[in-house]
Amino acid sequence: MKGGRQLAHLHIASWVLALALVGMVTTFARSKNRKATKITHIILRVVFLLILYSGGSLFASYENYDGLIILKLLVGLWAIAAMEIATVKYVKQKPAVVWWVQLLIAVSLALLLGFGFLPMGVLP
Ligand code: HEM
Repeated sequence: MKGGRQLAHLHIASWVLALALVGMVTTFARSKNRKATKITHIILRVVFLLILYSGGSLFASYENYDGLIILKLLVGLWAIAAMEIATVKYVKQKPAVVWWVQLLIAVSLALLLGFGFLPMGVLP
């Protein structure tokens, strides 16, 4: 199994940054700073591309695909979708609890699969 620690480091750095940016977007939205909200949200979407690039490259470096790695990919995509939809709904002041809960579940599952079960990267 090929792949690289550098890709895993980029992957971890990108989703940590994405979660921090979600916090910033909601903070700016709450303080009604429309310009900062918009700019931070654009940066967040660029970081989504970094998660997809690093995750996709890690995925592509697998030689054979079992259920766990497919599940990890799907859970990762779910986490990104939940981050985007929860943030958009929050900025538009629409009810978003369902998406914040999904974000919590998806990120927890991604951490469990990535750090707990799947072999590449920093852990296990
Ligand atoms: C917010 C979303 C995501 C989170 C929180 C997340 C979390 C993680 C974590 C914690 C690891 C283990 C890193 C390590 O051991 O060094 C990992 C590895 C991985 N992730 Fe993600 N990920 C996310 C999105 C994605 C996406 C969108 C994809 C696919 C396009 C993806 C594909 C992978 C792959 C293939 C690995 C390597 C698995 C292995 O360790 O063998 N991830 N991810």
